[in-house]
Order: sequence, then C-alpha cells, then structure tokens
Amino acid sequence: MATHKRSAADPISGSSIYAHIVGWGMAVPDRIMTNEEMSAIVETSDEWIQARTGIKERRIAGERDSTATLGLKAAQRALEVADILPTEVELVIVATSTSENIFPSTASLIQDWLGASNAGAFDMSAACSGFVYAVHMAAQSIRSGSIKTALVVASETMSRVMDWQDRGTCILFGDGAGAVVLQASDVEGGVLSTVLRSDGSGYDLLGIPSVGSLDTCAPIVNPNGHKMYKMHMNGGEVFKFASRVIGESITQALDNVGLRLDEVKLIVPHQANDRIIQSAARALKVEKEIFISNIERYGNTSAASIPIALCEAIEQGRVQPNDYIVFVGFGGGLTWASMVVKWGAPEAEERQAAVLGKQRRQASYTLARWRARLIRFQRRLSNAVTRIRPNEGRVHRLRHKIDQHDLR
Ligand code: ACO
Repeated sequence: MATHKRSAADPISGSSIYAHIVGWGMAVPDRIMTNEEMSAIVETSDEWIQARTGIKERRIAGERDSTATLGLKAAQRALEVADILPTEVELVIVATSTSENIFPSTASLIQDWLGASNAGAFDMSAACSGFVYAVHMAAQSIRSGSIKTALVVASETMSRVMDWQDRGTCILFGDGAGAVVLQASDVEGGVLSTVLRSDGSGYDLLGIPSVGSLDTCAPIVNPNGHKMYKMHMNGGEVFKFASRVIGESITQALDNVGLRLDEVKLIVPHQANDRIIQSAARALKVEKEIFISNIERYGNTSAASIPIALCEAIEQGRVQPNDYIVFVGFGGGLTWASMVVKWGAPEAEERQAAVLGKQRRQASYTLARWRARLIRFQRRLSNAVTRIRPNEGRVHRLRHKIDQHDLR
C-alpha cells in the first residue's frame, strides 16, 4: 500500500482509520447447467434466455455443496490472498438468502470451520444487496476502531429455493460464493462511501416465504399463491425498479465523496440481467464496458454475484492500486446499495506467497475440525454422566448449602 498518501481524518466519517479490502476469493460448484438443459425442465429456449437475460449457463450445487461449504472455500481463498490467520479475524458476516438454517447462522458454521476463534459471527439478510450491506457493516466496525479485521462472505444455493416449474425465475439463478477480507489501515482509501436504501412497500415483488410468515399454517401454497420456501418474483416490476435505482444510488455514493463518474475505473454491479446493466449504462450516459458482467457463465447468484465478479475483475487485471471502483446491489426487500472503494491492495507480484502462513492456516482448519468434534464429544459425555447419576448435582449443591450453614 506504499503508493497511497497518508491522511489525517476522513472529512465524512471523521475517522483516521480506513477499511481496505486486502483479500478476496470465490467458489462455484463444478456442475454446469446450460440453457439447453433448462429447456428440458421448463418450456423455454437458449435463444429466449440469452436474448432476455444474457445468461448462457449457471452453476448448480452438487450433493456435497451447501451454502456453508461454498462460503468456506471462498473464505479460505480470501484469507490466503490476505495472508492472515483465521485467529486474526474478529468478525464474520455472511450475506445470504439461502442460509443453512434459520439459526444458527451460516456465519457461525464458517467461523467454526475456519478456526476463527476470536470472531463474532452473524448472517445478513438483504437479498442481492447483502454483500454491499455486509461490507459496509464490517468497514464501519473497523473505522470505529472496535475491530481490525473482518471477513465478509456472500454465499448462495439458489437452486434449492427455485420453483422449477416457474420459467420466469428458475432460468435466472445459479449457485456460488465470494468473500473479502477487510483490514484496518491508516492509509487513506478503502471503503469511502456507502448508500444503503430499502423500500419495504415492494416486499411482495420477490421473496421466499419461510417460517414466521403469517401463512405458515398453509404450508404448501399461501393464499397469495406463493409456495413456502420457494422463490417468487414479479420480474417486470423488479426490472423497472433495478434500472431506476442503480443510476440514482451510484450518483449519490459518488457525490458523498466529491467524485465524478469519469474518475471511476470499474463498476461491479449485481449480476441480475444483462439488459438491466445496459439500461443503467444508458441512464448514467457511460459505456457499458465500465460495468463488469459475467452473467453469461453464472446467472444471478444473488448476494454472491458482486464478490464473484470482483474476483474475476481482479484476475483480469481490471483493478489496480488507487483505482476508484463502485459496487452496486439491488434486490428483495426491496433493498439497494452502492459503495465507492479506493482500491488499496498491492498488485499480485508485490504480494509475497508466505509459505509459513499457508501451513499455519491449514493447521488451523484441521485443528478447528478436531476441536469441534472434541467439544461435541465432551458435551455428550457430560450429558451421559448426568443421566447415569442425575441427582449428583442436586446432592452436591445441598451439601454445599449445609456446609455454608454450619460455618455461620
Ligand atoms: N422462456 C420463454 N418464455 C418466457 C420465459 C422463459 N423462461 N419466461 C417468461 N416467458 C414469456 C412470458 O410468459 C411472456 O409470454 P406472454 O407474452 O405470452 O405472456 C413473455 O415471455 C414475456 O414475459 P416477460 O415477463 O414480460 O419477459 P421480460 O422481457 O420481462 O423478461 C425476466 C422476464 C427475464 C424475468 C425479466 O423481467 C427480468 O430479468 N427481471 C428482473 C429479474 C431480476 O433481476 N431479479 C432479481 C433481482 S435480485 C434479487 O434480489 C433476487
């Protein structure tokens, strides 16, 4: 990060601590599903899907893939790039709409599997805007001085919540995960500005009904026609909403830090539909090439789409130190979010491959597995002992009380 100037305090936040993205990683399932395969499931065609969305294929989670396993792989790759140990991570946030459980959080699973024993962990529910929301929360925790290192994971297994009879939604989505590591620095840059917004009046335009909804008593199909645990969407309305908010929120996030659009090197948008990106480019009066798009290979991976696209942009050399880049997400809620980042991570050749760090990370993953097994075993053992001698605890407490009484 030697290329940056050091700065006193940020005029907006007043903080002299900056939150830089120093690690990144992605993971997608091996299984590719093409549009041709899709047309064997629902009445559609490769031609229709490509013309209306830009999608050619998507990845589908295999039997051994889950939101947490994909997230774990992305997280491990991000720690590798950042060259830090899991124990240095103080906060794990997982942005997802397809969490492993209502609770415990997918973040807690990943925290445990990594051996990130000094971290708090929680899931973030903001649909496809979740990654930007989560990076904002992590960056603010760093900028306030309360933590130094955070891991943000966005992971989705959308194929498991698809209604495979609804051709308006199932053709759009795919599975995958992306992750970033954020770290405190006194070097000016990193996350500079964020705009987070929500309009809950559009809650019924896309969603996944789950436990706790008013309609849980009608488990298969709700009175409004939405299937429990399956995604529903009003594609046309979402399209109009997305095309409008992308331009508005990017402009606002840039205004917050006095930047012009022509100073931005790259926009990493949520990959929902190539036509939405084209429409946003027209609204902003910029070439479409300023936006990265990889939707043709992955479809819409919800919260994971921005970090996956970011990883590919870095791989292609489209992000260099001191570049201004913008993330923009939108989706269920309705929610939307834009973020301006001044890239601070050193270029690949400057990053040393630390062999020792790699070995210590591997050891941490192995130890974490054994630690969790041991703790579970101890818990079972202690329960078994209590079952064999159920009154031991009570007798012990009584004896202690009598002793106390005699002493008085
Ligand atoms: N194959 C063939 N025909 C189809 C398909 C399909 N897969 N899906 C719909 N059609 C038909 C419709 O039935 C309709 O036929 P009709 O005119 O005879 O009634 C016709 O195609 C046009 O349908 P529209 O819904 O108007 O098609 P549109 O051009 O709007 O494209 C789409 C639909 C692709 C879903 C589009 O609206 C879209 O991409 N919306 C945004 C979706 C999105 O981004 N959602 C994610 C947001 S992020 C998140 O949080 C999850």
